[in-house]
This record gives sequence, C-alpha cells and structure tokens, in this order.
Amino acid sequence: MRLTILGGGGFRVPLVYRALLADRGPGRVTHVTLHDLDPRRLDAIVKVLREQASGHDDAPTVDVTTDLDVAVAGADFVFSAIRVGGLAGRAADERVALELGVLGQETVGAGGIAYGLRTIPVAVDIARRIARLAPEAWVINFTNPAGVVTEAMSHHLGDRVIGICDSPVGLGRRACGALGVDPGQTWFDYAGLNHLGWLRAIRVGGVDMLPRLLADEDALTSFEEGKLFGADWLRSLGALPNEYLHYYYFNREAVAGARAAEQTRGAFLLDQQSRFYERMETPGAPAFATWDATRLEREVTYMAENREAVDAGERNSCDLDSGGYEKVALALMRAIALDERATLILNVRGRGALRPLDDDAVVETNCHVDANGARPIIGEPLPDHAVGLVTAVKAVERDTIRAATTGDRAAALRAFALHPLVDSVAVARRLLDGYLADVPGLDYLQGAARV
Ligand code: G6P
Ligand code: MN
Repeated sequence: MRLTILGGGGFRVPLVYRALLADRGPGRVTHVTLHDLDPRRLDAIVKVLREQASGHDDAPTVDVTTDLDVAVAGADFVFSAIRVGGLAGRAADERVALELGVLGQETVGAGGIAYGLRTIPVAVDIARRIARLAPEAWVINFTNPAGVVTEAMSHHLGDRVIGICDSPVGLGRRACGALGVDPGQTWFDYAGLNHLGWLRAIRVGGVDMLPRLLADEDALTSFEEGKLFGADWLRSLGALPNEYLHYYYFNREAVAGARAAEQTRGAFLLDQQSRFYERMETPGAPAFATWDATRLEREVTYMAENREAVDAGERNSCDLDSGGYEKVALALMRAIALDERATLILNVRGRGALRPLDDDAVVETNCHVDANGARPIIGEPLPDHAVGLVTAVKAVERDTIRAATTGDRAAALRAFALHPLVDSVAVARRLLDGYLADVPGLDYLQGAARV
C-alpha cells in the first residue's frame, strides 16, 4: 500500500512515520512518498525518518519528490498536510489581525480567513490533479483551516476527501480521564465544524456520564478544557466545547493575551523550526534527537496565551502527547483499507446529519467508516447557541471559498466582515487591505474591483 504525504518536509511527518512503524497488521503501508516544494526540508525530514527506521527490518520505504503529479499518481492514500506561505505566512496572518485589534489566529477569525484565501487555490489544484491521476485514492486532509479546505477539495473529490483534526479526540480522552472511564468503551456525541464543536454526551453502557462530570467541580477543573473555560461556564453551557471555542467565548481576553505576548504562535514556531532545519544541515547532527527536542518545546507552548489569559496554569504533561492526529489518520486509513468498521470524528459533507446546514456543507461529527468511506451519523440536533455560531461561520467559509475560487473581492470582504469575531465592516476592509499588502499569495484578489 502506498501513502503519499503532501507537505512531506513538514515537522510532523516523523509522527506519522512513527505510527506507520508501529503498525504490524496486514494491509499496512509499505511505501511512503514525501512531496514538498522545498528539497531542503525534505532532506532534513528524511534524515529523521532514516534514524527512526534503523533497527526495523521491514520499515516502509521512503522516496521523495518535488513533482506533485509524480507524487500523487498511483497513490492509495494521500495525506495533505501543506502550509501555503509557510510559517512566515502564518505569522503575518496573526500579526495583521492583532494590529487591528481582532483575533490573530491560525484557523479562527480573520487569520483563518486569510490562511484559507491563500490555501484554497492550492488545495483545489491538488484536488483536481488527484481526481485526474489517482481517482481511486482516498485523500486525508490535515491542511488547516481543515474544515473549509476539505469543503473546497470536496467540490472536486466528493466524499473521497476526509478532513481530520485531533482536537475532538483529545477532548474526549481528557474528559474520560477525569471521569476515570475507558475512552475505548465510550460513545462521544460530538458535533459542529472543525475547531467549532461541542461534546454533548459521553455515553458508557448507555448512560450519559457528562452530567456527572459537570457536577463534580474537582474532576471538571482537573483537565485542560475545565481550566480554560471554568466550571461555571461549562455548567451553564451543558456541554464541553472544543478548546478553540475559547477564542469565541473569551475573545477579549484571548486578543489581549495575544497582543501582550512577545511573539505570536506562528512567529515562535518560525524561529524554532528554522533552527531545526538549519541544524539538520550540519553534518553529523543527531536527527531524531534534534527533532524530538524541538517537538517537545513546541508542544509546551501550545495555546499558552489562552491559558495565561484566564489563569489556567500549565497544560498537563499527559495532554501534550495528544490523541495524536497521526493516530486518527492511521485509524481512518486502516478502517478504509481493511474494511474494518470504526467510528471516528471526521470532517465530511454532512448529508443531512447537521441541520440546518445543507447536505454539501463539510461538518465535523461522528462517522461510520469502512471500505466505502466515512458516513456521518445523525446525532441530536445542535442547541440554538451552537446553530447560531455554526451557520454564521459556515456562511463565512462559503464566502472564503467563493473568493478563493473566483477572485471575487466582495466575497472576501463579506467573509471578514460577517465573521462573528470581526466587529466592524470598517475593520474588515482594513483587514482585507492589510492582508493584500502584507501577505503574498492573495494577488488574485488584487486586480478585482475594489469594494
Ligand atoms: C491542534 C489542532 C491542529 C493544529 C495543531 C498544532 O492539534 O487541532 O489543527 O494544527 O494543534 O497547532 P500549532 O499551533 O502547534 O501549529
Ligand atoms: Mn485541528
């Protein structure tokens, strides 16, 4: 079985490879093709993978290419994990928004729209090529902002593209830890959009354990989401929100925290990863150890400003080794390849599972997976407060896709202006101008009539 990883020189590829090495079962991946535009990054990551593979006599072979068509032709699975504009682009997405006093974040709010506008044209080109050169391949999209990028790709790949995120699994696992129940024996009722979902029930043997967790102050504040949101708010809500909802529910604090920070998350990662890739060019550098040290440094600072903004303290060390997006990806791949039935939380076209969204809207929800792919499971209807956010953000995503695929500048302006975390059309105009001036990759909007 052949797996192609787009963004193959990316920093998280060794996590995927580690999971592949641990997979001893039948039908496992035997060949990995890494694709990246930057040969230097490919070299660095290949060194790490080589060290990981030493001592395994049947490690998956690794080859590399900078030619996209060569990479996708003949693949059984394609992981798309690209970062258009690199971390410098991410840092700019964050900075432009923060300078205008609104949230500057990779996937949420204005920063997420800018990142989507830059990424969707590239993701759509990839989707078209896969549809032509590997029409039987399954595409697993990690590329952020994952929900909107998956929806744009689904216009060309239908249900063969599936988006994944590890945050719902991480939330479920942490909640189970606090309850002292086995996540493997649990049914999670989770629904929403990517980075905008709620865990509404934790069923064990038919009994919903969430009310018990909400009632237990100590258990509730023992894990990340409890610390971030506070027990009172979780009780008022009657659900456990995805940690990214902190940017909505505590927007003012999150913006203030990010503005006060020395660096944005993107700027931090840019420094740290540039050091890693540079170091890897030094002959004799211990590849895996260097990568691992850098990875841990990265994980520790994840969402640090949000935690600081609400005095949530340090993240628990067990949460740093999260559910692992690579584990979700592998579970998905195995379920499809081996026709092993599994239930996973994935980003797919909703096909009626999440009213009032239409059938083609990509949502993040429980899915049955087997050789036929992933089918969303119809759960409880969303409560009104969640419907409000989900429909508003889906409208923004649709305008983002429209702008990115047609160059319609008015659609781009609507996307910024109608996002719940952008509080004025005047600010939205300045955001659009700011991104066009500062961030490469949006030139296609430049020629369009001013709005
Ligand atoms: C979580 C999110 C991902 C995100 C990742 C890393 O796992 O679900 O979408 O890419 O964190 O975030 P970072 O800020 O470290 O790049
Ligand atoms: Mn995610």
